[in-house]
Amino acid sequence: MKKFLILLLSVMVIFNSCQLTHQKEYQIKSVPIFNHSYGNTHEITLHHLHLNVRVDFNDKSLTGEATWEFSSTDSAQEIIFDVRHMDVTGVTLDGAESAFWVGQEDSIHGSPLFIPLINRAQKVSIRYKTRPEAAALQWMSGQMTEGKPFLFTQSQAILARTWVPCMDAPSVRFTYSADVECPTDLLPLMSATNPQQKNSSGKYHFEMKQPIPSYLLALCIGDVYFHAYDDRSGVYAQKGILYAAVQEFDQLPSMMSSAEKCYGPYQWERYDVVVLPSSFPFGGMENPRLTFATPTIITGDKSLVSLIAHELAHSWSGNLVTNHTWNDFWLNEGFTVYFEDRIMEEIYGRPYADMLAKIGLMELNETVEKLMKTRPDDTRLYLDLEGRNPDEGVSDIAYEKGRFFLLSLEKLVGRDSFDAFLNTYFNTFAFKTITTEQFIDFCYTHLLNNPELAVKSRMREWIYERGLPNNCPDISSAYLKDIDRHIASIVQQHDRSIQNPTAKPDSKKIPYLNQIPHDQWTTHHVLYFLRSLPPALIYEHRSEIDAHFGFSGSPNSEIACDWYRLMVEAGEVKSKPEIESFLTRVGRRKFLTPIYKAMMKNREWVPFAREVFEKAGPGYHAVTYGTIQQIVYP
Ligand code: BES
Ligand code: ZN
Repeated sequence: MKKFLILLLSVMVIFNSCQLTHQKEYQIKSVPIFNHSYGNTHEITLHHLHLNVRVDFNDKSLTGEATWEFSSTDSAQEIIFDVRHMDVTGVTLDGAESAFWVGQEDSIHGSPLFIPLINRAQKVSIRYKTRPEAAALQWMSGQMTEGKPFLFTQSQAILARTWVPCMDAPSVRFTYSADVECPTDLLPLMSATNPQQKNSSGKYHFEMKQPIPSYLLALCIGDVYFHAYDDRSGVYAQKGILYAAVQEFDQLPSMMSSAEKCYGPYQWERYDVVVLPSSFPFGGMENPRLTFATPTIITGDKSLVSLIAHELAHSWSGNLVTNHTWNDFWLNEGFTVYFEDRIMEEIYGRPYADMLAKIGLMELNETVEKLMKTRPDDTRLYLDLEGRNPDEGVSDIAYEKGRFFLLSLEKLVGRDSFDAFLNTYFNTFAFKTITTEQFIDFCYTHLLNNPELAVKSRMREWIYERGLPNNCPDISSAYLKDIDRHIASIVQQHDRSIQNPTAKPDSKKIPYLNQIPHDQWTTHHVLYFLRSLPPALIYEHRSEIDAHFGFSGSPNSEIACDWYRLMVEAGEVKSKPEIESFLTRVGRRKFLTPIYKAMMKNREWVPFAREVFEKAGPGYHAVTYGTIQQIVYP
């Protein structure tokens, strides 16, 4: 007996030290990172994910198991997943306990999870628990959420690996199912088939039958209620905002039919929108079957619903035809902005769509000008993001330069031909991924098949060179022309009062302001007005302009964002309380970034910027937190 025990003990020691040696080996083993993922996708093909998780709001964790069905090449010796901010507690291969090793962590990509492959296994289950800092997840206890807990994920671009062990590259598609258990007073929703009301068990089952990439894995859990528009679309939101959301997005069914009219049937069965808390770091996220949206687009006048058209358009460009790598991100977003505008044109007419395009063009020119001074290579559509966080590719270049490139093609060949081309494009690449080079080939074959057109398109210049080619379409907007007139009058009067230094202080006012009929203005009119007036004039007349338009404290976040940035630039200390309140209430990165940047440019505002960030930061999602932290503590 004693001998047996000693034998057993030594076997255990040897086994353990083998494990340790392996662990060490794997920790230092350098694994190639391709497409921002450690996944050995050349050897392993993932087919299906089954996720089984329990949601615990007390210790901010998802605990459970991810089971992957896969096939492998003959020579494959291991399977490598991406993991980050989670503890892997066990692995089984075809049901039998298996060894596994987690490699060293890289600050952008997280760690590789190695699982040795034996007996041509086809199923691997990974037991794990996420850590509270898991970057995709935002756990909310009740502030900003009507007093109820709320959890949501944001997986794009490479954060899915912080809540599901996966091969986290857009080129890897799989179907998925999930069993989720959560507190019974909350409703879980996923980028999958969804419940429309709570049940008493707190257990829910989900299915996504179409293959999707990991960045479209999504989960949110909150005290949300559902309203249907028709038999394939509706809105989920917390009670306090549901009614407003339903009103605001009631064009959803017609957006869907307009989109289908352009580019063929909607392929995901249902299209619902869930309104998240205002800390959601983006405007919207195109999670299939269920767009996640910020409440900051609910303005009461439907003037920001183009965002819904945008996320819906991703059901074709992005979700159906997906960028192969994050360097090809413009294929997702450029196509989507182009498509979004087509939907808006169908519903609201050409002048409205032109107004949106004009604002987009102004933003594009500004971004190109800035980037040319700082990172000129980032003005190219095709990016080189190796070794960089793919988040750095999220700029007006992918969105607006992408859109204007496609618009230039439309103008070159005519809309009918371009639409026929896009239909073929969506059909050919449906449920596949596409690289920029594949797009170029496809374009030369199916659209620019005569040499003259090919040259005229300047396609390679658009894609691989800096700045904007000079066949970039210009946009003139009839809706905004009116504002140009008002601006000219204001500037004229202002110049006159400057030229007359003897005038009483009173006459330095802008009397013309009262003549601007702005009660019919949409958000875009206001933005165009604020962006077209000379900034110095705004700084000088800020009190008067604010008194007239009531920009301070505006419930419209787009307007508030522009106005507060201007007030920071003007050094208006009276605005501090409102700025602080805005930066605390809203977590959408696009709004916070320009305001924090403006504050950091003015030495006197730096302590205030940091103080606000210290207070408000804990309420931001990790994506926003990371960006703002880099701004305030460069
Ligand atoms: N898919 C994006 C959001 C995104 C991109 C998240 C890259 C993470 C990495 C979404 O479709 C989007 O573009 N949202 C925009 C809305 C828009 C341009 C109308 C946003 O959030 O501002
Ligand atoms: Zn988008």
